[in-house]
Amino acid sequence: MPAINPVVDLAADGEIAILSVNYPPVNALSHQVRAGLLDGIRTASTDPAIKAIVLICEGKTFIAGADITEFGKPMQPPGLVEVQDAMEAAPVPVIAAIHGTALGGGFEVALCCHYRVAVASAKCGLPEVNLGLLPGAGGTQRLPRIVGVEQALDMVTSGKHVDGKTALAAGLFDELVPEGTLRASAIAFARKVVAEHRPLKRVRDADDKLAAARGKPEMFDAFRKANAKKFRGFLAPEYNIRAVQAAVDHPFDAGLAIERKLFVELMQGTQSAAQRYVFFAERQVWKIPDVPDDTQTIPIKRVGIIGAGTMGGGIAMNFANIGIPITIVEAKQDALDRGLGVVRKNYERSTKSGRLTMADVDQRMALFTGSLELEALADCDLVIEAVFENLAIKQDVFGKLDRIVKQGAILATNTSALDIDQIATAVARPEAVIGLHFFSPANVMRLVEVVRARHTSKPVIATSLALAKKLGKIAALVGVCPGFVGNRILYARSQQANAMLMEGAMPWDIDKAIYDFGLPMGPFAMSDLAGLDIGWSAERTSSSTIREVLCERNRRGQKTAAGFYDYDEQRNARPSPVTEQIIREFAARSGAPQRTISEAEILERCLYAQINEGAKILEEKIAIRPSDIDIVWINGYGWPVYRGGPMFYADTVGLREVVAKLEGYGAKLGKDFAISPLLRQLAADGKRFGDLK
Ligand code: 3HC
Ligand code: NAI
Repeated sequence: MPAINPVVDLAADGEIAILSVNYPPVNALSHQVRAGLLDGIRTASTDPAIKAIVLICEGKTFIAGADITEFGKPMQPPGLVEVQDAMEAAPVPVIAAIHGTALGGGFEVALCCHYRVAVASAKCGLPEVNLGLLPGAGGTQRLPRIVGVEQALDMVTSGKHVDGKTALAAGLFDELVPEGTLRASAIAFARKVVAEHRPLKRVRDADDKLAAARGKPEMFDAFRKANAKKFRGFLAPEYNIRAVQAAVDHPFDAGLAIERKLFVELMQGTQSAAQRYVFFAERQVWKIPDVPDDTQTIPIKRVGIIGAGTMGGGIAMNFANIGIPITIVEAKQDALDRGLGVVRKNYERSTKSGRLTMADVDQRMALFTGSLELEALADCDLVIEAVFENLAIKQDVFGKLDRIVKQGAILATNTSALDIDQIATAVARPEAVIGLHFFSPANVMRLVEVVRARHTSKPVIATSLALAKKLGKIAALVGVCPGFVGNRILYARSQQANAMLMEGAMPWDIDKAIYDFGLPMGPFAMSDLAGLDIGWSAERTSSSTIREVLCERNRRGQKTAAGFYDYDEQRNARPSPVTEQIIREFAARSGAPQRTISEAEILERCLYAQINEGAKILEEKIAIRPSDIDIVWINGYGWPVYRGGPMFYADTVGLREVVAKLEGYGAKLGKDFAISPLLRQLAADGKRFGDLK
């Protein structure tokens, strides 16, 4: 039998045709793959010697979906549906042989085969929702016909991958075969189907699972309600629900037409464009132009952590989770005991949700060694300092580490704002020094800013990035400046938020605008959560800022049940008349005219100031590319993924508009506010941040 084209091959093993796809890296359904599959199915179906067809993939995975790089471009025929129709209508059984991940369009192709066999390590799923889409090749119509409506809703709105065993139990796979034998086992399965004259099982014809859901529209509303918080702001989950509902309410082809219409709407919208952009941004962020993939890395077998406070303990948990032993050093025994106690408590909390067993907790805790001596860190391959945010203390610690820790080890600091070049002056090996800026809570938050100092070596950078990946984090490589990327942009927003308090807005007005835009909370709610007394001292307080006055009145945030807001026992926030009074007094003293500030102004001043700061960060080469800034803000601060990050958002608004608005706000932005020359230039040239490749 002939090779169909460079990426699809057709061969025969006796009366079984083997149609194989070889299109690295993930066998995505590019034009050539679709064309090859269609040709292959047609050729095999019309060969009288062929009694069954096995569809299998080379490389690390079964087809992992449509080719996302083709989205937004004109579609070259054949379309996927044409390929699927040919498979489903084939006169001989078509068997999908699955390994790796059968995802999205790939899984939808498998659902058009008459049977599916897989190795147990294989997974399947419909992750389109994560790209702001819905399965647009029959997935929303076929899936509920196999697994029922409830499980289908869960799968399409979460996008989660289902493991082999679960897929077998749910009827998504017909048989699991031993690892390493997929091809032979699939051929044997095909022979069995032929020998036993098994029917051509077409998922589209099944109806019993849907019948169970008919006349119960309330189950869809219940599902919406139960997930309202998770779905807030996103279009795609709702569209997925509607498409599954169409499977229940309409015959197959009508349902398919509704699915298509909804799919096209999503595909043309800004949310999906943003989410697809983020998909690629998350992969690009690891690529460092001057640190190639083959850069030598340092094996990390033992990690040292200094400081068992809020950050040290959380950071340490990440390493224990992947089985790396940790030596944790504190200044005093009680602080060490307290820190390790918090770690244990956090792990024990996970046993309540069933994520860990008590045995897991003990196993993880056994990886911790506590000490009061920095000397205990001598043999560590990586040491992360998480002591008080004070340059002199950190320099002192690094000076000692330099004398104690073995050569070749990485010396990292978790500072959130100090100058790492200055910290590095305390050691004779500045090439070993790097910032690993974890976010709080460090065992939960996905982001790590990896901060490259002036002398940081490439192996130290490569190792830090690889390690972050191993920890399940997403890392952005940034340069040294006050606040690095994330907090520097946060600060730009805070300046505007604080300025607006002086002009007549209340914290809850500003927070509401930011929350409704899609962030999990606004700047003042965030300050209350973190604690208003960070960096505040009762001895040195001078009543010169609103924050200081709040602290002086013991309004230190959520932990004292009062901050900018008042809190009840369930930590529900209410606007506070006390705070309002304090702000009004400050505003009166400032002499600024008071007015009602519109939600549009709140958003524009907060968000455009962030965009402007992002542009400066690019100018100064503190971030490698605009999408890295977006990754920081999505993963560190909860910027809504469906808006693609502040830099992507700026492109959707239009940079001319951003600059015009900033100019319009003029003096209100503050006397030190300056518009970034890069931002101005891009706007003048009619360009986007996306053009800065
Ligand atoms: N289209 C195009 N390129 C893709 C792709 C796709 N569907 N999936 C992955 N890639 C690319 C990645 O961009 C990456 O490229 P790079 O090496 O140049 O950065 C490369 O393949 C490898 O990807 P990963 O680094 O993610 O590899 P992993 O092994 O970690 O993960 C995976 C593999 C689980 C398949 C993961 O890539 C993934 O989840 N892919 C997306 C799956 C998906 O969303 N499918 C649905 C697509 S939409 C669709 O099918 C619509 C349909 O309903 C009509
Ligand atoms: P913390 O006050 O909770 O913990 C610091 C710990 O370090 C204390 O337990 C203290 O006893 C210990 N310590 C101080 N000096 C020491 C020394 N010489 N040797 C050994 N232990 C010593 O502080 P937190 O919040 O954990 O912050 C630590 C670092 O992380 C700071 O640099 C901070 O800026 C940074 N950071 C904090 C974040 C947060 O949200 N809390 C977020 C990101 C970074």
